[in-house]
Amino acid sequence: MTTTFSVPKFSTARRFPARSEVVAHGITTAWLDGDSALPSGLDRADLLRLGFTAKAGQIQIVPVDGRLLAAVGLGDLESLSNDSLRQTAAALSRAVRGQRSLATDLASVVAAAAGPAEVEGVAAVVEGLSLALYRFGYQSTESSVHSDKLTRIVLVGSTSANTRAAVERAVAVTRGVTLARDLVNEPGGSLTPPKFANRVRRMARDRGLTFKVMDEAAIRRARMGGLLGVNRGSTQPPRFVELTYTPEGRSKGTLALVGKGLTFDAGGLSIKSGQGMMDMKMDMGGAAAVVGAMSVLPSVAPQCKVRAYLPMTDNMLGGDATRPGDVLTIRNGKTIEVLNTDAEGRLILADALSVASEAKPDAVVDLATLTGACMVALGPSIAGLMGRGDGFLQQVEASSSRTGERVWRLPLPDDYRCMIESPVADMKNIGGSYGGAITAGLLLGEFVAEGIDWAHLDIAGPAFTDSDEAEVVRGGTGFGVRLLVDLATSFAV
Ligand code: BES
Ligand code: MN
Ligand code: ZN
Repeated sequence: MTTTFSVPKFSTARRFPARSEVVAHGITTAWLDGDSALPSGLDRADLLRLGFTAKAGQIQIVPVDGRLLAAVGLGDLESLSNDSLRQTAAALSRAVRGQRSLATDLASVVAAAAGPAEVEGVAAVVEGLSLALYRFGYQSTESSVHSDKLTRIVLVGSTSANTRAAVERAVAVTRGVTLARDLVNEPGGSLTPPKFANRVRRMARDRGLTFKVMDEAAIRRARMGGLLGVNRGSTQPPRFVELTYTPEGRSKGTLALVGKGLTFDAGGLSIKSGQGMMDMKMDMGGAAAVVGAMSVLPSVAPQCKVRAYLPMTDNMLGGDATRPGDVLTIRNGKTIEVLNTDAEGRLILADALSVASEAKPDAVVDLATLTGACMVALGPSIAGLMGRGDGFLQQVEASSSRTGERVWRLPLPDDYRCMIESPVADMKNIGGSYGGAITAGLLLGEFVAEGIDWAHLDIAGPAFTDSDEAEVVRGGTGFGVRLLVDLATSFAV
């Protein structure tokens, strides 16, 4: 039985409805420690006896009159933020996922305690509550995976048009994250490049985005030597997909999004270890994030034009696979000596960044599960941010801090360029023993035309996870969708 997840139905109400199975009240530590009355049904002494201290994310459930009351810890007033609110909401929905309906005042309690404004807070609450419930799987028998019942959630507090619009927007964003997670979680043997492209086509048709796909012959005519070189060891043909979102009225600038779409990375002839390729269905996490974000744009209607470029292939070891030492000619005419076939992401991104540059966008962002070295540098949950154009990189950082998808700047020093010098081509596809995230970034920079702002996000760490944590669920995380949607809506040239 395949598990498919759909985002619960959200609504807003001034007061707690009489029929919700779970009524969840946000409680700050100040409120618990003070003298003012707690919400009816919650008794201070009982809560303390149960060990409830109102620390952020703590959930205490008590049955009262046939329904469940939940005390939800919000922590200290000073540390109330969108991030902690999102995490707390995630803990709440995990705790009550077996119940059908939930009503909660989290966002309004936080706003009243002078945390994030209620319109901002509702987005964090919607994201936390729904993303933590995400499931994916092919289990054949009834299991815990199938016991989820939570499908209706009422947000108690403001019912203003602004609040309702914020809820709707957050639901749309959450659907985009869900789509990205589903794509990442689909195994490499079933989400082949043609299937991936077809799924993107269906999404584009549903959402009214312009869709274009190139098959192998068209990719050859376009001289994308990187994509063809990586695909050479595979029996699956490559695809190159382009999506366009066009705003109503005159567009304020053009943003290009590029995503690494490696549907499975075995490493090619420079084969990975068994352990090393276990999770490599996730190597299209960059493309998945771009697809997820594009799917949201028609709902949030940014004023800039957004074009997406998605190179898709797997990296296999067929009899005619690219050999170490082969030289590939990329779309923009530059040549790359392939010394390690496992450094393949940069080869397909080189073509995609070249194509993206030809349309002369104001800025390009690429997302790629590019290097293990970036995980060594920043750990599992933070993306590496590199690029050119300080103002634009700051816009990316601002989007990151608003959405809670963490990034950290790494430099692209000119004098490191010598590390990718090749005796036989314009560059080689690997650097030395150190600074692997940076040498990969330097190579990509060769394919972004001068004068175009460019941000490169190495999401090798945060695109996939082994454990449930806050709103993130084991497997594909959908990292980057929220950041890209925020960036598109705030993009200013
Ligand atoms: N897709 C991998 C990077 C990766 C590793 C992502 C682990 C997520 C988790 C990429 O194609 C790769 O194999 N990179 C090599 C580059 C090296 C050969 C220069 C790496 O990082 O080892
Ligand atoms: Mn690789
Ligand atoms: Zn890869």
